[in-house]
Amino acid sequence: MAPAGGKQARVYRFNEYGGPEKLQLKEEEVPYPSAGHVRVRVEAMSLNNADSLFLANQYLEPPALPSKIGYEIAGTVDAIGEGVKQFSVGDRVSAIPAFSVAEYANFAELTVLPERALMHTPRNLDKIQAASFTFAYFTNYYGLFDLGQLKPFQTVLITAASSTTGLAAISMVRAAGSTVIATSRSSAKADALKKAGANYVIATAEEDLVERVHAITGGKGVDIAYDCIAGPMSEAIVNCVRQFGHWVVYGAMDSSPVPFPVLQLMVKTVKLDTFMVFDFTGHPGLNIPANDQALARAMEYVSRGIESGALPIVVDKVFEGLEGLPDALRRQQKGTGTGKIVVEL
Ligand SMILES: NC(=O)c1ccc[n+]([C@@H]2O[C@H](COP(=O)([O-])OP(=O)(O)OC[C@H]3O[C@@H](n4cnc5c(N)ncnc54)[C@H](OP(=O)(O)O)[C@@H]3O)[C@@H](O)[C@H]2O)c1
Repeated sequence: MAPAGGKQARVYRFNEYGGPEKLQLKEEEVPYPSAGHVRVRVEAMSLNNADSLFLANQYLEPPALPSKIGYEIAGTVDAIGEGVKQFSVGDRVSAIPAFSVAEYANFAELTVLPERALMHTPRNLDKIQAASFTFAYFTNYYGLFDLGQLKPFQTVLITAASSTTGLAAISMVRAAGSTVIATSRSSAKADALKKAGANYVIATAEEDLVERVHAITGGKGVDIAYDCIAGPMSEAIVNCVRQFGHWVVYGAMDSSPVPFPVLQLMVKTVKLDTFMVFDFTGHPGLNIPANDQALARAMEYVSRGIESGALPIVVDKVFEGLEGLPDALRRQQKGTGTGKIVVEL
């Protein structure tokens, strides 16, 4: 017979929008999971740009104050609700991007998630890696394959390639047998990007992006620009894409308003796709229906790639203890590192 009660655990919440200084760590009761839900004892959590945006109320969903925070975690199943079929107490699990962060947020000692927002952690991963792969690899699976139609022997321009999503994209493009041109604002991260698998690195503040891309591709342009910057670079990015190529936009790191490069897109018949990972995995809060088939496809690709070693996990820095979260967020906001910033419990 399952215990009906909750358990006391330390949970991060914020009562005002802003930066890491707004985070408060307090003890509260985490309920026993309701039907279809799983309670997880969190062992590690990693940061995504979305966490900072959510804390500042600049994300897809407004936080309901006092709000919890945090997407990406890994841990062990502590309790299961009625009807949960895929998990048992003690299983190692990683959260996947198929839930509303305004409703379920995870940066805590214990968290409760819907069953479909978890996957079994690949066996070869330790707890740090277990918390550091799902968001980037699931997002890129849909962006590169479903939308970008990535095939072998293509060339892909990956902007802000030192971002955690960008680094995962480098591995995926290389594993698919294609060439990566990576961008970073400065050349400081060039070595790290090459080590991650980039064939070419362009420092956008130091070099002419379009000129370099055309020199590398023999004037043809790239098959796919996989872009999370947009902003004033948009026109140059479109000018890097070949005729009938794809510009896949999944972020707006530079949100300054810019004229839409409609003429450049039209003249070369470049296909523009913008997307959120939730367009594929589902998100009730945003009225996006769940797509279990898309979720299963991505999960199979990611699990296989992680287990075979084809999809590596790059960790930038690990902060010890739950109290390390504000400093971890500060490091992320500085953007000096390359790879996942993780808090280990
Ligand atoms: N659509 C989706 O479903 C989805 C899913 C995941 C992430 N995203 C988006 O993808 C983007 C990256 O997220 P992440 O968590 O991977 O990021 P992250 O790990 O925090 O990486 C940020 C990197 O982006 C670069 N950058 C920061 N500000 C920039 C600016 N103003 N202009 C150009 N480059 C800038 C920096 O690289 P350099 O210093 O090397 O230039 C920085 O290291 C975000 O916009 C996020 O919202 C979208």
